[in-house]
Amino acid sequence: MALLEIMIAGAPVLRKNAEKVTRFDKKLGKLLDNMAETMYFAEGCGLAAPQVGLSKRAVVIDDGNGIQEFINPIFKFQEGSCTNVEGCLSVPNYEGEVERAEKVGVEYQDRKGNRKYIEADGLLAIALQHETDHLDGVLFIDKASVIMPKEKEE
Ligand code: CO
Repeated sequence: MALLEIMIAGAPVLRKNAEKVTRFDKKLGKLLDNMAETMYFAEGCGLAAPQVGLSKRAVVIDDGNGIQEFINPIFKFQEGSCTNVEGCLSVPNYEGEVERAEKVGVEYQDRKGNRKYIEADGLLAIALQHETDHLDGVLFIDKASVIMPKEKEE
């Protein structure tokens, strides 16, 4: 596996509408493995392919329950609302309050191309919305009601 370079806000790739993944090959598996390694190294809980410079609709998330991969995610429903403080590996040193749906249903594919469906709430629901935004060229700072410098960890 290998660590990938994380793109920082200002990089054009973060503002593109990412392409649908159509090839479920070894290369995709390797990308997902490297994205997971990069996410853990950077101590994030989610990472989207555009954040490592690849404009493809692929996301990895670990909400505390292990690594999960979402290829070509599509929301089937979004319900309720909640406001949480979010950060992003592509926007270091800042965090912001963002309103999101509380519960979501998402259709997606796994790394082999199998069709899947998940309903989520809590951190996973928020991460799915945050990471899917990346695939549409949207950053949390576009949606945040408040943006503030991140508190330094002691
Ligand atoms: Co992000």
